[in-house]
Amino acid sequence: MDAQGVHIETHPREGAPVFSAGRPDPCTLVLFGATGDLAERKLFPALFELARSGLLPEHFAIVAFSRSKLEDASFREHVKEGLQKFARTQPLDEAAWKRFAETIETASGGYDDPEAFKQLGQKLQDIAKRHQTGGNQLYYMATPASTFPQIIKSLSDADLLKREDQPGKKPWHRLIIEKPFGHDLESAKALNKTLGAALDEKQIFRIDHYLGKETVQNILVFRFANAIFEPLWNRQHIDHVEITAAEAIGVEGRGGFYDETGVIRDMVQNHLLQVLALCAMEPPVSFGAEDIRDEKNKVFRALRPVEGGEVPQHVVVGQYAGYQEEKGVKKGSRTPTYVAMKMNIDSWRWQGVPFYLRAGKNLKKRLTEVSIHFKSVPIGLFSGGGDTCQRLQPNVLTLRIQPHEGIALSFESKIPGEDVNIGGVTMDMDYAESFKKPVPEAYERLLLDCMRGNATLFARQDSVEQAWGYITPILQALETDAGGTIHTYPKGSKGPDAADALPAKNGRRWSTL
Ligand code: BG6
Repeated sequence: MDAQGVHIETHPREGAPVFSAGRPDPCTLVLFGATGDLAERKLFPALFELARSGLLPEHFAIVAFSRSKLEDASFREHVKEGLQKFARTQPLDEAAWKRFAETIETASGGYDDPEAFKQLGQKLQDIAKRHQTGGNQLYYMATPASTFPQIIKSLSDADLLKREDQPGKKPWHRLIIEKPFGHDLESAKALNKTLGAALDEKQIFRIDHYLGKETVQNILVFRFANAIFEPLWNRQHIDHVEITAAEAIGVEGRGGFYDETGVIRDMVQNHLLQVLALCAMEPPVSFGAEDIRDEKNKVFRALRPVEGGEVPQHVVVGQYAGYQEEKGVKKGSRTPTYVAMKMNIDSWRWQGVPFYLRAGKNLKKRLTEVSIHFKSVPIGLFSGGGDTCQRLQPNVLTLRIQPHEGIALSFESKIPGEDVNIGGVTMDMDYAESFKKPVPEAYERLLLDCMRGNATLFARQDSVEQAWGYITPILQALETDAGGTIHTYPKGSKGPDAADALPAKNGRRWSTL
């Protein structure tokens, strides 16, 4: 029984998986930005968990690169302290840590210092021999976006990053790029051009950690491995779709970065549009990376543009009270920390079905989910007479991405008794509970996929530009007077009340946060 009292029976299949993820190749991971927040909170914990579970390649090493001078022993200590706070399994497994620590080495120097990159090259050659990595190199750019072009240039000049025109050739060189991937359409195109000049698209892994979340990956399995949902997954049966990414935390010491970014660049252009594409795409020809990414790209191409004076009808932005007092935030900042949007997809399947998106910081609770709201029944058989009229609630299918990962379906049911009385019930599947397995962190999966050369869960050049193409005119309007007001909302609330107007115009409302 789960918490709701619904019994979910699981039927694990015997035998090999449908798609085997495969073993990752031996390699050295060079981590730029090794002393940063992302490395401490997400990357080292993910790498450690992989090491602990024996999932990393047998021949593997990490080179932590930083502009500040690093020493192996003290840096390993720093990593250990981070793991004591952020590792997925606590308390820290000392034996696993000992083995993992030995794989970490350091290098330092300016991103524009040829000597530093020459030394990095020598170190990588030496490591390739000591750790038998076969010379495969994975470069991870966990640095501010402004440094990407310089690092790529220095790596290329030192002959450490080479274009590979033949897929599958070894040793390989791959590059992982963290978001923000550009600031708008123009800068994203410029960055793609820089990358394209140095590398083949197959060597570039634009990371969007939402795609590594198990529950986001499960959207495709849920839709395409079950015959009963797909026939309903269209404008005939669906009234609207709601995608929510609410966070209870604020900017958490990242005020300077966040003030330049804002919620639309931070969450919508990447994470939420990726989730939307997985919910809205057509069935791909195969489960191969390009087939899936082709279908997602078609969704982005079909997004109905929202520009200029139309923006306030489709987009409501807010800022939490006290944001301007956060460290690094400019006084009088107009950066939104909350957004609600109404989007339309001009495709055969989705014509007339609005997609409502909302995301924000310092909201009532942490909740990321997709709700598919089905249409009402066609006639009011149960509408009753006089003042006993009962309102039927349309069915809602909720894909809970986090927390309490799972899937729930609400439907109407007769309440036992002489009268016909109707109440709502929910069938609820809890992901971790059903499979009796902890749900891995997104970065664990994504790091391994790069080592395998599988780009399915990474954003492709065309999609990134399509997504920016949709978002940029909205940002431009918001950054001028055409974008309307920024509404202040109290910390810990559901966001600005003004957001209610978006669905209310068509008689709908947001799900309760
Ligand atoms: C990051 C954003 O990409 O995603 C953060 O930069 C945000 O601002 C985070 O907090 C949310 O990720 P998650 O996995 O906690 O939903």
